[in-house]
Amino acid sequence: MRRVVTGIQPSGTPHLGNYFGMIEPALALAGEASAIYFVADYHALTTVRDPGVLKELTFDVTATWLALGLDPDDSILYLQSDLPEVCELSWLLGCVLAKGLLNRGHAYKSLVDENQQAGRPADAGVTAGVFNYPLLMAADILIHGADVVPVGDDNRQHIEITRDVAAAFNANYGPVFTVPEGRIEPSVGTVPGTDGRKMSGSTDNVIPIFAGRDELTRRIMAIVTDSRRPDEPKSPESCNVYSLYRLVAAPHDAAELAGRYRSGSVTYREAKERLIDTHERRFGGARERFAELSADRTYLRAVLASGAERARAVVTDRLSRARDAVGIISAP
Ligand code: TRP
Repeated sequence: MRRVVTGIQPSGTPHLGNYFGMIEPALALAGEASAIYFVADYHALTTVRDPGVLKELTFDVTATWLALGLDPDDSILYLQSDLPEVCELSWLLGCVLAKGLLNRGHAYKSLVDENQQAGRPADAGVTAGVFNYPLLMAADILIHGADVVPVGDDNRQHIEITRDVAAAFNANYGPVFTVPEGRIEPSVGTVPGTDGRKMSGSTDNVIPIFAGRDELTRRIMAIVTDSRRPDEPKSPESCNVYSLYRLVAAPHDAAELAGRYRSGSVTYREAKERLIDTHERRFGGARERFAELSADRTYLRAVLASGAERARAVVTDRLSRARDAVGIISAP
């Protein structure tokens, strides 16, 4: 069976960009492959500096996977830090990964560009964690022998780096690692946020998957639209409200709304109300499960712990092959 591996860093409240870009495709794959999914708390440490917030978000992301239908008996769901073997592997991989690839990492590079534009030293305020983020991600993936890695478009480059480092290791030491394929959902593209830019936790333009009715209304009503009058024909493709509706609604409902945009028979306000109702219908049930799961942290912690135990069986073997391959003399 193909092995599918992916993770979400608990650095913000899961939103529709995460859902359509990665979670939904990953859940679909979990039904037909052996799925190993994790909560990437080590990665979140590159941006989350408040320990209380890290804990909250770690439970939130765990409850999100489960509420949306990940079956922790069929699949493996674990907490990244329960498998510190990934850090050990990350060091071995770092010794064959060309540093230049990390210099070109987009998160690192955009911090450097920002600094340069502001006239600051290039690396001001940039941590080694941010620089090494893609390396740790490669270890996450390669340690499981993943065949397929479903990710959002923003992780495309990380998969390339993972493939590169796997190939570099194998070329020097022999075939220890599977070179994985990234799976980037082509039909989704970039999910627009409420301000029209890419939906992203760092810009507060998100629609949280499990927002309550009030928050949902507030955020959706604030979506930026152009100033066309109600009876003017409008282009659905260039409207942020429609772009979100198309993802949340059934295809025939989306086609119907697109027709009304083009014939000038819908206002942006009506379109927003439809988006609110449709979101409620689609995610309301999962939101209730999310609330129930979130109230039982003992259960969530136990699910994560048992996931790591099951993952460890596979991981230990590949890590010891990697250690042997590079010439580490293991203790007798
Ligand atoms: N970078 C991913 C994110 O944006 C999280 C992540 C960490 C990940 N390790 C991974 C994704 C390994 C896929 C595979 O949230």
